Amino acid sequence: MLARKILRLTFLCIAFTSLVIGCSSDDEDDIDLRNSADFAVLTANTVDADIAALGKKLYEDKQLSGDGTVSCMSCHDVAKGGDDGRPTSLGINDQEGPINAPTVLNASYNVLQFWDGRAATLEDQAGGPIENPKEMGGNIADVIVYLKGDTEYSNAFAAAFSDGVTEANIRFSIAEYERTLVTLNSPFDQYLSGDDDAMSEAALRGAQLFAKIGCSDCHNGPALGGSSFEKLGVAKDYFKDRGNVTEADYGRYNVTANEAHRHQFKVPTLRNIELTDPYLHDGTVTTLDEAIRKMATYQLDMTLEDDEVSDLTAFLKALTGEIPGA
Ligand code: HEC
Ligand code: HEC
Repeated sequence: MLARKILRLTFLCIAFTSLVIGCSSDDEDDIDLRNSADFAVLTANTVDADIAALGKKLYEDKQLSGDGTVSCMSCHDVAKGGDDGRPTSLGINDQEGPINAPTVLNASYNVLQFWDGRAATLEDQAGGPIENPKEMGGNIADVIVYLKGDTEYSNAFAAAFSDGVTEANIRFSIAEYERTLVTLNSPFDQYLSGDDDAMSEAALRGAQLFAKIGCSDCHNGPALGGSSFEKLGVAKDYFKDRGNVTEADYGRYNVTANEAHRHQFKVPTLRNIELTDPYLHDGTVTTLDEAIRKMATYQLDMTLEDDEVSDLTAFLKALTGEIPGA
């Protein structure tokens, strides 16, 4: 933390000096984003197309829920950014969930799944919502009966797997579909791949700022997130300011019971972030502008100028890629 602060101070000094001696914005102090270990181009996963197509069908099928009203798609609408646009989700019988739905787009890049990392893989995750009484309120045994009784499904399972319809194969198929949901070709990826004109000047300034002030200490890797767990409120007590703390706010602590993990959350991906408001695990932040300012305050102990926020916003918008199938 201290080292980071000294680094940041050094930066400010250099920035100030270059201002005085009149350097332009793309001076030597700029970080070489293309060769930085913090950034990488998103790349597609290798998948079995038939199994992914079967997974897509399951993902969109409301019959997997207890009363035929909810599918994965209800809370993770792929075309709309892979989430539900609500502060917290609405499950079967209009039940409010405790936490904001993260996007499924690029979820294959997450080190673990869920805000608190309680599922290790997409396969582990995929069965949960079907049986969660507040989400789809169904059960796997009924789902298996339904799929076996449906000719199209049972043929597709028989073609893909030697053991046909099983819980493991249902989970694998849904996960295989999710692995196709990588949003390639954002302006930032095009820039990283060598196209100097792919991003606006504002977005380029924002990318530099993002790296220099330390956003990328947490939001890094191809998904700009998903690679670690960090406390919300590193620099200032977020939960004291917000009030009304719930169990969902304990984050990673709920999984590990380690006091050091209280209020730690999986660092969310910033890919396609302009599409997935409202923000944060509690869904309390409605605009990107406010999310950026809150991050500066609570994670970095700094106050950003308006032009810095607008540059960072331009950069984050340059992270919107092509949504598969849209
Ligand atoms: C009622 C709404 C709802 C339904 C239906 C639902 N989800 Fe979710 N999903 C959520 C919420 C809320 C979370 C976050 C829960 C948490 O982290 O504690 C989540 C988390 C996830 C994650 C983890 C993403 C990450 O970044 O950690 C994946 C992947 C996912 N869901 C896929 C699915 C699949 C596949 C289905 C269908 C089998 C499904 N969801 C059904 C609301 C829903
Ligand atoms: C110390 C680690 C850390 C730093 C530094 C950090 N973030 Fe975050 N960021 C997080 C975590 C953790 C979350 C999720 C917090 C939560 O919802 O509980 C988050 C959430 C966000 C979100 C909302 C994402 C969503 O899907 O809801 C945005 C946008 C964001 N950060 C942008 C930034 C920007 C821009 C910076 C630099 C000004 C920054 N972050 C610095 C860890 C960090």
